[in-house]
Amino acid sequence: MGQTLTEKILDDHLVEGELEPGEEIGIEVDQVLTQDTTGTLVWLQFEALELDDVQTEVAAQYCDHQTYQFDFKNTDDHRFLRSAAGKFGAHFSRPGNGICHNVHKENFAAPGKTMLGSDSHTPTPGGLGELAIGAGGLDVAVAMGGGAYYIDMPEVVNVRLEGELPEWATAKDVILELLRRLSVKGGVGKIFEYTGPGVESLSVPERTTITNMGTELGATSSIFPTDEKTEEYLEAVGRPEDYEAVAPDEDAEYHDEIVVDLSELEPLIAEPSMPDNVVPVSEVEGTDVDQVMIGSCTNGAYEDILPAAKMLEDREINKTTEMIVAPGSKQASEMLAREGWTAEMMAAGVNFSEATCGACIGNGHVPASDSVSLRTFNRNFEGRSGIEDDSVYLCSPEVATAAALKGEIVDPRDLADELGDLEDPGFELGDNYVGVSSSDLITPDEAVDDELIKGPNIGDVPLKDPLPADLEGDVLLKMPDNITTDHISPANADVLMYRSNIPKLSEFTLTRVDETFPERALENDGGLLLAGENYGQGSSREHAALCPMYLGIDAVLAQSFARIHKANLFNFGIVPLTIDEDTYEDIDQGDSVEIVDDVAEAVRTGQEDITIRINDDWEATANLDASEREREILADGGKLTHVKQQYDADD
Ligand code: F3S
Repeated sequence: MGQTLTEKILDDHLVEGELEPGEEIGIEVDQVLTQDTTGTLVWLQFEALELDDVQTEVAAQYCDHQTYQFDFKNTDDHRFLRSAAGKFGAHFSRPGNGICHNVHKENFAAPGKTMLGSDSHTPTPGGLGELAIGAGGLDVAVAMGGGAYYIDMPEVVNVRLEGELPEWATAKDVILELLRRLSVKGGVGKIFEYTGPGVESLSVPERTTITNMGTELGATSSIFPTDEKTEEYLEAVGRPEDYEAVAPDEDAEYHDEIVVDLSELEPLIAEPSMPDNVVPVSEVEGTDVDQVMIGSCTNGAYEDILPAAKMLEDREINKTTEMIVAPGSKQASEMLAREGWTAEMMAAGVNFSEATCGACIGNGHVPASDSVSLRTFNRNFEGRSGIEDDSVYLCSPEVATAAALKGEIVDPRDLADELGDLEDPGFELGDNYVGVSSSDLITPDEAVDDELIKGPNIGDVPLKDPLPADLEGDVLLKMPDNITTDHISPANADVLMYRSNIPKLSEFTLTRVDETFPERALENDGGLLLAGENYGQGSSREHAALCPMYLGIDAVLAQSFARIHKANLFNFGIVPLTIDEDTYEDIDQGDSVEIVDDVAEAVRTGQEDITIRINDDWEATANLDASEREREILADGGKLTHVKQQYDADD
């Protein structure tokens, strides 16, 4: 039986296990990526492991989430990151150089390689045939030290693309269509592999829009085969030598198949406040639009902004609508400027931002209260834009630009009919690529630091004691389904500046669900959390496990967990227990929960069914679904202690 492309790449990198869905495998990691909000902790953990240099082919530290330097804290963090990259041998991308996924795609992504990144949209380079997976920062720190990355072998799903996109339909509509069909949970435990005759009609930036937003499906990763378009792209960015032909075997067998006929797609839009609330644009036509934003790691490439620029040529945006373009990388900014498109868009009324995540996480360009913002981003979770009652829609650059011109949501096909001379600008790899700008990327050879520089806002990493025999505590918070990592550890500017100062950052834990939670947790000396389905969906941020750990949370009872967050719970010594719906309904906030078994023993010996006793009154069964390795990590009090013990033993 032939292999899928995913299986081929994993097979080439396999160090432990077998490629059977659900089985834990260990793989060798070729490249790692970190960004500024997760990177500080990654390097502090790397330091705590007492290793000398990074061991991967490429390690890259980007500064993109917090580039606005409101006071010394972000600047201190960036200086620390530069010093860590210099000391340990990583590439350092300076603030303003762009969003990690865009800059990584331009500079390092290569077919057939494996990549691990401490950001949830790490799978973006799948558009170039790289198998890239988002993970917690600690996993990234361990991979940088040459350690394997462990993951349950995902199911590989064939997404067969037929036909070609019609006018005004885009790559964004491909992924929105999948979200419409499958929901934000549809990809959990899966890798989406794109095949079929429709693939060759999509350029690399279009493919990376799709692989980027596979994360919103909950997918472990998404990947395309390579072809002439990949070769052409790598040539354009000045790395033709990185091209390699990678594809599945003709007789590859997939776990499942989804067919998308590109020719049947139309402009789509995700309504507030979930990326899977997808409807045809025509269904929401006429909604007034206050703000339009083009950018982010999903649609921030030069090829994403160019169509908007062409649509705006010799026109003006509506007077009641604000339009901001935030390029995904300085390369995109530079090319737009060199080709005169920046001036063209400015003349049309567009404001430009530096290349940054910025507004995607509520850092700048916060929408007005009770207003509508149309964005080309990948997420529209409530409150993410920086204001609680936001109304953020997600769409393609073409739909966003049409709305800026009209002042309301409009299907670009209808706007084209109305204006008479508006043409679908298409999507092309520009003729005048400038490759990549090197001045903002400091290679290990050019490093300017050889010692760590720690400012006052950078603290040590807290460690947890080994798991005790007895575990009991009060349920400090009962939460509904789909609690995101944004709920658990918010990422807005007021909070993110404390990402390397865990005691301070912990004061914001779950305050979006209950303002008094952190105080209660400290007063109570810790306890347990209770949640519905899909607990911890969203980003890979490990602070969402680290801060609860700091507050003394020993276990989370949930109906189900998001994959990366569950891994982070193991890594920080918090026991993730799955319960059924009836048990969830019957437990109330404030109830006391005792694990009846010797929990340390149960974890170490592989026991799956764990008896819990509620209010010393009734009992239920919870499930601990964990690999042998995850159990060892949990019992040792978390991964840092666990790995450190291994290194110490090796010495
Ligand atoms: Fe940045 Fe938003 Fe992407 S925070 S990495 S632009 S999802």
